[in-house]
Amino acid sequence: MNLAEQVSLKPFNSFGVDVNAALFAQAHNDAEVRAALQLAQERQLPLLVMGGGSNLLLTGDVRALVLRMASRGIRLVEDGEQVLIEAEAGEPWHPFVQWTLAQGFAGLENLSLIPGTVGAAPMQNIGAYGVEIKDVFHSLTALDRQTGELREFGLADCNFAYRDSLFKQQAGRWLILRVRFVLSRQQTLHLEYGPVRQRLTEQGIDRPTASDVSRAICSIRAEKLPDPAVLGNAGSFFKNPVVSAELAAKVRAAHADVVAYPQADGQVKLAAGWLIERAGWKGFREGDAGVHKLQALVLVNYGGATGSELLALAKRIQADVVAKFGVELEIEPNVL
Ligand code: EPU
Repeated sequence: MNLAEQVSLKPFNSFGVDVNAALFAQAHNDAEVRAALQLAQERQLPLLVMGGGSNLLLTGDVRALVLRMASRGIRLVEDGEQVLIEAEAGEPWHPFVQWTLAQGFAGLENLSLIPGTVGAAPMQNIGAYGVEIKDVFHSLTALDRQTGELREFGLADCNFAYRDSLFKQQAGRWLILRVRFVLSRQQTLHLEYGPVRQRLTEQGIDRPTASDVSRAICSIRAEKLPDPAVLGNAGSFFKNPVVSAELAAKVRAAHADVVAYPQADGQVKLAAGWLIERAGWKGFREGDAGVHKLQALVLVNYGGATGSELLALAKRIQADVVAKFGVELEIEPNVL
């Protein structure tokens, strides 16, 4: 395991924020993960585990051993109508999705082009276009950082919810090593969310395959969401707030066109992007910190923004949205 001191994390976080890690290492297998845990203990440093760094805002130098998961490998564990696929935590997410589609396995197509890694995906139960990872999740293997033991988690163990999981709730306890998914040779497609079906129709596709859906979603995402390689960002910076029916009605009374999705429990999910845009922040820029021109839910780093500047901007937006709509926005990425 290569170990280096005072390493810039700029290439390892999708915001492109330039801060240093006191110590930096990459783990390619379980043994290297264990070695890093031990080293952090010996040096009396906290251990910060990173995947693709695409859901992270770093607000200062990191006095920790930063461990980037770099383990690779994809395996077909069980074959049949349904297939069980296992991928190592360090596998980059989108190439993994493409690999499954190339094998003819459907299930992950709606989650195309999400940045990050396989191991980070369950942390926040990644979701897009009507599908969440929990819908195709089978199980995962994680290391208990307190005891050093390996533990298997099935679907029911993970407490998956909207952008949430047990692993996020018990932050710092579980280190995800590999994840298993149930995919299908049968194509049960989810086309009802947002512009997916419309995009396929525009492309002249009336009997889409899973790969067609993936391509349509890539084109939709590419139009609205900035490519982190070009413009630093961490995807949606806020969760879509779930509010009481009373509050939703109040917002709607003042703004008839508010985008709102009723939930099964009677609460209402509001589109945070709509609230932020309506509050006037879309396209806002101060220094190198800004709000994306095409999607108000995405904060962007035009180059030299610091994490603190991005966080200060987020706090101004939160305060303004409370003042204008009475709605609290929760920050989605991990702020460090
Ligand atoms: N909207 C606006 N103005 C904006 C942005 C959005 O009015 O600037 C409106 C849209 O017109 C639409 C509604 O808000 O009516 C929802 O917008 P969109 O479909 O773009 O999705 P979102 O709610 O903004 C969520 C996820 C995304 C995911 C998309 C598609 C969250 C926090 N974000 O965004 O996930 O790709 O749906 O499923 O749930 C991420 O988590 O990083 C992420 C990109």
